[in-house]
Amino acid sequence: MLINGASGGIGLFAVQIARSFGAEVTGVCSTTKMDMVQGIGADHVIDYTKEDFTRTAQRYDLILDMVGNRSLSQLRQALTPRGTLVLVGGEGGDRWIGALSRSMRALVVSPFVSQRLRPVLGAANTQDLQFLKELIEAGKVTPVIDRAYPLSETRDAMRHLEEGHARGKIVINVRGAGPLPEGRTVAGVASTNGSPIESTLTTVAY
Ligand SMILES: NC(=O)c1ccc[n+]([C@@H]2O[C@H](COP(=O)([O-])OP(=O)(O)OC[C@H]3O[C@@H](n4cnc5c(N)ncnc54)[C@H](OP(=O)(O)O)[C@@H]3O)[C@@H](O)[C@H]2O)c1
Repeated sequence: MLINGASGGIGLFAVQIARSFGAEVTGVCSTTKMDMVQGIGADHVIDYTKEDFTRTAQRYDLILDMVGNRSLSQLRQALTPRGTLVLVGGEGGDRWIGALSRSMRALVVSPFVSQRLRPVLGAANTQDLQFLKELIEAGKVTPVIDRAYPLSETRDAMRHLEEGHARGKIVINVRGAGPLPEGRTVAGVASTNGSPIESTLTTVAY
């Protein structure tokens, strides 16, 4: 399978989860993040500044797209005839139908072609988070943490993230914030020192 956006917040998990299922994974990212993507287990890494994966002879059974910089037809070109395309994000859209344009086209086109084109909208649920927890406990998935900031430096943390320099997750330490509210679902939670999250130190990874 191919993961476009393998060095991103979602991609770094996607590569490891796919590997845990035994998939042969090709990750696409920029030059400076190739070592990181290889380090988390990608079998092959493509540098998007040097090579366009939609213009090679290689075909993939599954493409997970987090970037949205390729049209549906370009992505379908890189799929095997019965392959599956999963659109996760990076929807630029157009001025008429906005951010959902490519996803909507995928839904309309999919029934008429041999390939499966599937937009997904993430919804955190206990079962999936439990599965992720088991993968982490089994050492099959490790959250990649770039650096941790205190709450007072959240602005710097967000700037670092927005500038695209983050190499993994950014962690904000919220001291004295108390436990997470009852019934609140959090997509990603980690502790920088490996200890369980306590009521005096809540660490949320974005
Ligand atoms: N569908 C859903 O439920 C859902 C849920 C959450 C997020 N999303 C969306 O999913 C997308 C990805 O989220 P994220 O948190 O993983 O983002 P992110 O951490 O900012 O990662 C962005 C990824 O895109 C890559 N990239 C940037 N420019 C590129 C280019 N020109 N060609 C190829 N790759 C390029 C980056 O590679 P380098 O860093 O190596 O340049 C990086 O791997 C976002 O659009 C987000 O809104 C969707």
